[in-house]
Amino acid sequence: MITVRDLRKVYRQGSNDVVALGGVSLEVPTGKIHGIVGHSGAGKSTLVRCLTLLDQPTSGTVSVNGKELTNVSADELRDARRRIGMVFQHANLFDSRTTEQNVGYPLELTGTPKKEIAAKVAELLELVGLAKFAKAYPSQLSGGQRQRVGIARALATDPDVLLCDEPTSALDPKTTDEILELVKKLRDRLNITVLIITHEMHVVKQACDSVSLLEGGFIVEHGDIASVITNAEGRLAHTLLPLPGDAPRSAGAGTILDLLYTGDQATEPVISAVSRTFNIDVNVLAGSVEQLSDQQYAHLRIQLPVDADVEAITNYLKSNGIAVTVKGTK
Ligand SMILES: Nc1ncnc2c1ncn2[C@@H]1O[C@H](COP(=O)(O)OP(=O)(O)OP(=O)(O)O)[C@@H](O)[C@H]1O
Ligand SMILES: [Mg+2]
Repeated sequence: MITVRDLRKVYRQGSNDVVALGGVSLEVPTGKIHGIVGHSGAGKSTLVRCLTLLDQPTSGTVSVNGKELTNVSADELRDARRRIGMVFQHANLFDSRTTEQNVGYPLELTGTPKKEIAAKVAELLELVGLAKFAKAYPSQLSGGQRQRVGIARALATDPDVLLCDEPTSALDPKTTDEILELVKKLRDRLNITVLIITHEMHVVKQACDSVSLLEGGFIVEHGDIASVITNAEGRLAHTLLPLPGDAPRSAGAGTILDLLYTGDQATEPVISAVSRTFNIDVNVLAGSVEQLSDQQYAHLRIQLPVDADVEAITNYLKSNGIAVTVKGTK
C-alpha cells in the first residue's frame, strides 16, 4: 500500500515560488494498479521525484506499507527506496551488460552473493518472459524486450511498490498492450502495488484499477474506473469513453440526453426499456461501448420525442444507475 498525505512541492525560481504540487493526497491499496494522468506541467514528474524522495517534498508525507519515507535517516531512506521499483519510459539499460547482468545489477549493489543473484535473475527472466534472452545485449533486443528487462531489474530487490513513469510512451500499440498485460500479471502474481504515470488514456483503460487526474499540482478527480467513467460531471468520463467527435448535438426536435453507465446491460436493453416504459421512440444519435477488464461501459447520446416526459425519463434512468446529462432541447 502506498499512502501520500498532503504532499506539497514548491520550487523557488528567482524571486518567484512555483507550486508544482499543491497538496496531493493519495492511497493505493496493496495489489492494485493506480494511474495518474495529467497534462504537461501538471506535476507528474515532480510527484514521481517526491515519492522516491529524489526530490525533498516541501511538506507532506509518503509511506509504503505504513512505513514513512519522509523524515527518516539516510540509511533508512536507502532501505526504503529498495521497496520502490522504478520503471521509466526508456529502459536505461547498460549497453555493455547482458540481460541477466542488467537485471542482477541492483543485487550486486547490495552485495548479494553471486549464487543468489543468479537464482533471482533466472526467476525474474522467467516471470517477464525473457528466459531465452539472458545472454543478449540491449542492442539485440526490441523496445518491448528492453522494457521487460527494465521491469525485471526493478523487481530484483522484491519491492512492495512499482512506480512506472510513462512506461509505454515509447512503444507501439501492440507492444504497449503486451507490457500492460505483464504489469497486470505482476500485480496478480506478486500482489505488488503499482503506480503508473501516463498521458495515455489507453493505459488507464487497459491496466488501471483506479485513476487520479492531476492538474496544476492538485488531484482534481479520482476513483476506481467504474466510478469515474460513470461520473457525468467529471472530465475523466469524457476522455476515457468519448463520444465520436462528430456526434450530433441535435437532430430535429426533441431533448438530447447523454447517458453513461456500466454493467451487463448492453445498449439495447436500456433503450428498449425506456421505449417500453414510456411508450416512445428513442433515437440513438451516437454511442461508444467498451469492454474494460470484465466490465462493459457505455456512453450514449439519445434523443427523446418532443412530447416526452423528460423529467420522468431522467429519473427512471437515474434510478437504474445510469448517469444522465440533459444536453438541451431543440
Ligand atoms: N526544478 C524545478 N524548478 C522550478 N520549477 C520546476 C522544477 N521542476 C518542475 N517545475 C515546475 O513545476 C511544474 C510541474 O512540472 P512537472 O515536470 O512535474 O510536470 P509534468 O506533469 O511532469 O509535465 P510533462 O508531462 O511535460 O512531463 C511545472 O510548472 C514546472 O515548470
Ligand atoms: Mg514529466
